[in-house]
Amino acid sequence: MAGAKVTDTGVVEIAAFDAPLGAELRGLDLREKLSPEAVRAVLQAWYDNQVIVFRDQDLSPRQLVDFTAQLGTPGVPRMPSQAVRDVIPDLPPEVMIVSNVRIDGKPLGLPHDGEMWFHSDMCYAEIPHTATMLYSVELPSTGGNTLFADMYAAYENLRPETRARLEGKKALQVHDYKRTERPGVDLDLTKVGNYAHPVFITHPETGRKAVYVNRLMTARIEGMERVESDAFLEELFSVAEDPSIVYEHVWRTGDLVIWDNRCITHARTDFPDNERRLLRRTTLLGTEAPQ
Ligand code: OGA
Ligand code: MN
Repeated sequence: MAGAKVTDTGVVEIAAFDAPLGAELRGLDLREKLSPEAVRAVLQAWYDNQVIVFRDQDLSPRQLVDFTAQLGTPGVPRMPSQAVRDVIPDLPPEVMIVSNVRIDGKPLGLPHDGEMWFHSDMCYAEIPHTATMLYSVELPSTGGNTLFADMYAAYENLRPETRARLEGKKALQVHDYKRTERPGVDLDLTKVGNYAHPVFITHPETGRKAVYVNRLMTARIEGMERVESDAFLEELFSVAEDPSIVYEHVWRTGDLVIWDNRCITHARTDFPDNERRLLRRTTLLGTEAPQ
């Protein structure tokens, strides 16, 4: 989805990637306040392309929050804990650290080491955050790429019989704090965040239908025997992770990437555990449960 929009903060040039989804937006310095036209152009490019990338940005944690707040209401993560925040000077409450780095052996939030399977952020919550923004600060020499899969395309690519059978069904989403394992069979739902959302949801801005299950966080399809649920989930995952609908983001420092948790799942490729990887993350609050 190419095109260019002139705004009074400069030209926002939208360069679609040579990939099934995603676009780079050029011409904005995100430290500056955006004009209302630029905010609209950024949001429209995000709806059109699902993932948008700004290269060569130079943002302090506070500037990342100030940018985020121009597109919606920033979420406040539970991590890192206050103990970790005490040793990171000036980290605004809206910023989460996504990193494999440890201080005194303690992760700076959830330990983000190595590979991570496809998932949609906070799909285990009643009202997940709509956007996630990651800003890269330190990167390994190789790997640690982020994969983005198009859940509109997954919906379209499903077998019509599967779509018909799963229409109206809900799936239980859980936060089991794993990175490369299916949620356990004997989950204690009093111990993990969980919520049942529709298997297919409609994006409130684009009106398009999207698959809303993923390998990392979807435990089961409600109202089905385990064997049938597992079989349908495997079929959904294989369609939803097909390389033909995936954009692989190879990070450069200073990248700010925004994705849409309502129509994108994301995953991370492996990277060397003896190299540092550190990104700062913000989100935008949702206002309604996916439906
Ligand atoms: C996240 C996430 C992927 C990455 O921050 O929600 O999944 O590439 N990150 O670190
Ligand atoms: Mn994630």
